[in-house]
Amino acid sequence: MIRTTNLSKTYYLGVVEVPALRGVSFEIHRGDFLGLMGPSGSGKSTLLHLLGLLDFPTTGTIRINGMDVSEMDDDERTDYRLRKMGYIFQDYALVGELTVLENVMLTAMAQGKSENECRKASEEILSVVGLSERLKHLPKELSGGEQQRVAIARSMVNRPIILFADEPCANLDTTNSRAVLDQFHTINEELGQTIVMVSHEEWHKEYFHRIVYLKDGQIDRDEDRRSHSA
Ligand SMILES: Nc1ncnc2c1ncn2[C@@H]1O[C@H](COP(=O)(O)OP(=O)(O)O)[C@@H](O)[C@H]1O
Ligand SMILES: [Mg+2]
Repeated sequence: MIRTTNLSKTYYLGVVEVPALRGVSFEIHRGDFLGLMGPSGSGKSTLLHLLGLLDFPTTGTIRINGMDVSEMDDDERTDYRLRKMGYIFQDYALVGELTVLENVMLTAMAQGKSENECRKASEEILSVVGLSERLKHLPKELSGGEQQRVAIARSMVNRPIILFADEPCANLDTTNSRAVLDQFHTINEELGQTIVMVSHEEWHKEYFHRIVYLKDGQIDRDEDRRSHSA
């Protein structure tokens, strides 16, 4: 579904070159629940940003369903980011003055659909993440794990082809982290949602189908966990 070939990214800090990725070639398959792991500074976030079309590679190519993304114009790129991709970051950044339902609807409305359609889609996805009883609550009335689940619902409401999550549990305790990971598991299993998630927590591994380990900006190991089980 998404294939990278020899992807590299070098940041330039004045005259200093920081090579963050150095030749990454791999493929993400539809329905994957993929973990991106590796030490701090190994290039995980950089890779996620490139895959999510939030930044441009220095060299190499990214193909989505065969299409080279460097050939997309600005409108197509924007369309992908707004309608076809979902993002979840550490800081879930919900709008404090809006209810749970309104926070999710806000993203749905960006598609230009009617308010009724947006409400229906938002209620549906909030029920998938187990928040049907919290629609009228404000974010501050929820636990951290529940807030992050609102962020998951928000990222999912437009049914993205792929969901990117960069350390979504970094600010959560174990119980809330588990609640979030269980939700990822559910949307992956029940909706077939493709998920790429960055993590550096060993115990998160049990949730991933496959783990790509990065080290110094390169793939160190690509581990298929499903073939190892049973
Ligand atoms: N915007 C930036 N400008 C300069 N260097 C950066 C920038 N973002 C990341 N880096 C550097 O690139 C390398 C990889 O960073 P990152 O992708 O954030 O790693 P990870 O997410 O695995 O911790 C690190 O050496 C980091 O300091
Ligand atoms: Mg990072």
